[in-house]
Amino acid sequence: MRLDCLPIHKHQTSKMKKVMVFIFLLCVTGIGVFWREDISLHFLPQDERPCACDQCLCEDGLLQNFSKFAEPFLSVNCNLSNDDFNWWRRIQNEKHNYSYYKTTVDKIFQMLPASADVEPPSPDRCRTCAVVGNSGNLKNSHHGPLIDSQDIVIRMNRGRTKGYEADVGTRTTHHVMYPESAVDLDNTTRLVLFSFKIMDLEWVIKAFSTGFSGSSYMPIKSKIKANKDLVMVLNPAFMRYVHDVWLQKKGRYPSTGFMALVLGLHICDEVHVFGFGADSDGNWSHYWEKLQDKKLKTGPHPGDEEYGVLQKLAQRQLLKFHKGS
Ligand code: C5P
Repeated sequence: MRLDCLPIHKHQTSKMKKVMVFIFLLCVTGIGVFWREDISLHFLPQDERPCACDQCLCEDGLLQNFSKFAEPFLSVNCNLSNDDFNWWRRIQNEKHNYSYYKTTVDKIFQMLPASADVEPPSPDRCRTCAVVGNSGNLKNSHHGPLIDSQDIVIRMNRGRTKGYEADVGTRTTHHVMYPESAVDLDNTTRLVLFSFKIMDLEWVIKAFSTGFSGSSYMPIKSKIKANKDLVMVLNPAFMRYVHDVWLQKKGRYPSTGFMALVLGLHICDEVHVFGFGADSDGNWSHYWEKLQDKKLKTGPHPGDEEYGVLQKLAQRQLLKFHKGS
């Protein structure tokens, strides 16, 4: 028997009415709750709001839930769990054990400030950030002035400004790097070390003192020009959090750019993203050079997944994604 041909009896009709009234009430209550949340976000007195932007990232439920996963930066008292260490050591086949890691971190903090200097949220400030990836799509983008107008400008690896000012700007407050991608910095820019192995931590100690003489899969700068009082080291547990939570464990490990972007969501109230996106052949080419390796793709990183997340975050208005040319 076809279900749509069943006769509807009187008691069924009244039951249906009750169900519909119930659904209606549920909708009204739901709208009320959302409305109240919306009101509370935008009409709270200024000194009760965490920041002075129209929308503060830390008010978003998603980020509130995520902020408890891991501290973004290492500090003298920050203890990495064994589990997180074991995840991190697999990134680049680390041979040394946890106690060697711990000893190296202790040495780092004999040289670096005990904790990273991150400006906390404040009701009278809107900490805006530009996270600038190295995509070739920055060429002819004319994004320079918009990038420079943000409070914090995060660049990475061999990303440069000289000769590209109109498209990428001139200011750099934070420069993310690892030994194989290191560049010299001026005295006011913060060096943000993304370490993928214990040798990277040893490198920062030596590069600021006697010089580093170890070898890696690429030549490494023996010494670095930068202000050592402004060095910050990304917490390996934060890298794992980005991989597990934001990328659902896709790919071997997140790219420098994607980790910098999530870092931005944690330390800024408003995030503007530039210089992300592969070229038409799917390669992560750079704005300052012609692509050498035509089979580069997105290296060991889950480039498509990262780009998908970036687009979703933009749709959800958690960040502003400025696509290039
Ligand atoms: O190539 P490099 O790793 O220095 O680039 C920095 C970051 O910029 C990458 O980790 C990636 O997240 C992003 N990128 C991109 N599209 C490109 C080049 C880089 O999204 N074409």
